[in-house]
Amino acid sequence: MRRKAIITGVGHYAPEKVLSNKDLERMVDTNDEWIVSRTGIRERRILEEGKGSSYMGYQALKMILEEKDIDPEEIDLIIVATVTPDTMFPSTACRIQHMIGASNAWGFDLNGACTGYIYALATGAQFIESGAHKKVAVIGADKMSAIVDYTDRSTCVLFGDAAGAVLLEPSEEADYGILDWILHCDGSGGEYLHMLGGGSLYPASHETVDKKMHYIYQDGRTVFKFAVTKMADVSAEIVEKNNLTGNEIKFFIPHQANLRIIDAAARRMGLDDSQVVVNIDRYGNTTAATIPLALSEVYHDQKLQRGDYIVMAAFGAGFTWGSLLLRWAI
Ligand code: ACO
Repeated sequence: MRRKAIITGVGHYAPEKVLSNKDLERMVDTNDEWIVSRTGIRERRILEEGKGSSYMGYQALKMILEEKDIDPEEIDLIIVATVTPDTMFPSTACRIQHMIGASNAWGFDLNGACTGYIYALATGAQFIESGAHKKVAVIGADKMSAIVDYTDRSTCVLFGDAAGAVLLEPSEEADYGILDWILHCDGSGGEYLHMLGGGSLYPASHETVDKKMHYIYQDGRTVFKFAVTKMADVSAEIVEKNNLTGNEIKFFIPHQANLRIIDAAARRMGLDDSQVVVNIDRYGNTTAATIPLALSEVYHDQKLQRGDYIVMAAFGAGFTWGSLLLRWAI
């Protein structure tokens, strides 16, 4: 029988410091009413200077290991979805491996932008299903405040810092765990959402700094247009492909970039509000962290029961987009 990858633990970390819409009103020409009505965001968390995404990812993984009383040496693989690695290299996964003491694990970072966590979960599941590994940690961690220009009102209101993580383990039950995924990318969208500086094409220089190339650039209107249709399409597609209907889905856990995009996808799937997990009001867009952070909150609120179907979906830079269907197994 083919093994399935099931989620056996969930954790998250959000920094204590809150940056509210009122705070942003004092920094740029914006207002709470605009931000809430256009995005659904009320506040976001900001990680202190001197700490990187690895710190948050480590905290999220630590939460799982402590709750489940698992020795870090049992972990085989650490995958970190991030667009804000601590450094270009070593990878954030290597840093977390060392911080947590996972001395038997290997690991790597994966960049799928806001779809990164779905890419990473689908990837991690392969190492379980193939029989290669028994414990795979899949972390999404982003310190977006490190690449946000706090003089640009069109982007600085959107993003925040956080991390989330799950532990994947094998199960012999064919109908549980990660059941299906649909993943896409379309590189022609790169011009609308990117951070150009600091890579091999535009290495850091006085010029890249002067031109603000180390910050996020987004053509919000164009990205919105693609996101709202692609995320709705791919969410509905995975439900139909698996012969399910909207009312059989316990929770839809979408990437939290914009409440209007989430609502459009939920409507397309025929869901009501109680089925849609939303925490964008409290955290903003934390890129690869939004989905595991939301899952961890739902899990720790004890809203999940064995047998529940969960659909995850995301859209992000690349463009990248995708959805994933899982059935809760613990
Ligand atoms: N406060 C007040 N006014 C603002 C602000 C602000 N913070 N930001 C922009 N405006 C103004 C604009 O200047 C514009 O004014 P104008 O009409 O005089 O030119 C007006 O508000 C409308 O601007 P739009 O950009 O058209 O606003 P829109 O309704 O599209 O909302 C937003 C902008 C929230 C960014 C939206 O486009 C969006 O959510 N886009 C998709 C984001 C997304 O999904 N990204 C993918 C994931 S991110 C990742 O992968 C890293």
